[in-house]
Amino acid sequence: MGGLSVKHLTGIKGLLKEDIELIFQTADEFKDVINRPIKKVPSLRDITIANLFFENSTRTRLSFELAEKRLSADVVNFSAASSSVKKGETLIDTVNNILAMKVDMVVMRHPHPGAAKFLSEHVNTTIVNAGDGTHEHPTQALLDAYSIRENLGADFKGKKVAIVGDILHSRVALSNIFCLQKLGAEVMVCGPTTLIPKHIKELGVKVSHSLEETLDWCDVANMLRIQLERQGGNDDVAFFPSLREYSMQYGLTKAKLDQLEKKILVLHPGPINRGVEITSDVADSDQAVILDQVENGVAIRMAVLYLLASGVERK
Ligand code: CP
Repeated sequence: MGGLSVKHLTGIKGLLKEDIELIFQTADEFKDVINRPIKKVPSLRDITIANLFFENSTRTRLSFELAEKRLSADVVNFSAASSSVKKGETLIDTVNNILAMKVDMVVMRHPHPGAAKFLSEHVNTTIVNAGDGTHEHPTQALLDAYSIRENLGADFKGKKVAIVGDILHSRVALSNIFCLQKLGAEVMVCGPTTLIPKHIKELGVKVSHSLEETLDWCDVANMLRIQLERQGGNDDVAFFPSLREYSMQYGLTKAKLDQLEKKILVLHPGPINRGVEITSDVADSDQAVILDQVENGVAIRMAVLYLLASGVERK
């Protein structure tokens, strides 16, 4: 088995279809591992990984940390809020100081689009992007596509996947579009005009402003969170009249699913705004695979770290 074509995972855009398939095959093996009574393998026991989170996270942060520990890596965690970044230290200086402590790989979430790529060009280590602003969230897209593969089969050709909601502020949407298209799926984005980027059709996706039309078309609906924190703060809505109006037009309800003549698969990357983009009876139903996505996230991140580590020079 060959390795990945990349040294860093800064986005899905730079991956080949073969890279994605290799990550999935490797994740299959690690999914077996994490479902065994002894969930640990020694694969990365000579590696030290720093998790740098400059933005809030529950799933991604814990998932990476668990993936690293299941692979027997040594792990250090860094939170911007309690660090010397608050005293004015630059990103490059911060990371170079961490690397001086003999750290081999860096997982980073950052609010600025392009931060992971920037870092990969300016420091001497392997970078894994855990979400950079509104740009990409590659491991989320990999675990989303892996969850679709698990439920609908490995051949994505002809599969129709809808991404619904706040596309404008979403790094999950862009990474999902790249990932699904590389695998051969068709993608539709759906939401109010104000939450769909103007030139998104240039990526080869269909665009709809009707949830009903979108649900009629798709095999899978990935429901995205409304990112109030990127709408100017203070919990104000700025891109539609009210949350109530948004949920009436674009919220996925059991009634809307029951009107369909087919059973679609429902995904959500989390965190969920229950009653806004998805109702509880859908989120907790057997059509939704939201917690399976979270489980798969650990296997996918183990696969990514394991495959990237084969190219890492130990310090
Ligand atoms: N899906 C996702 O990235 O969740 P967190 O922000 O909790 O990591």
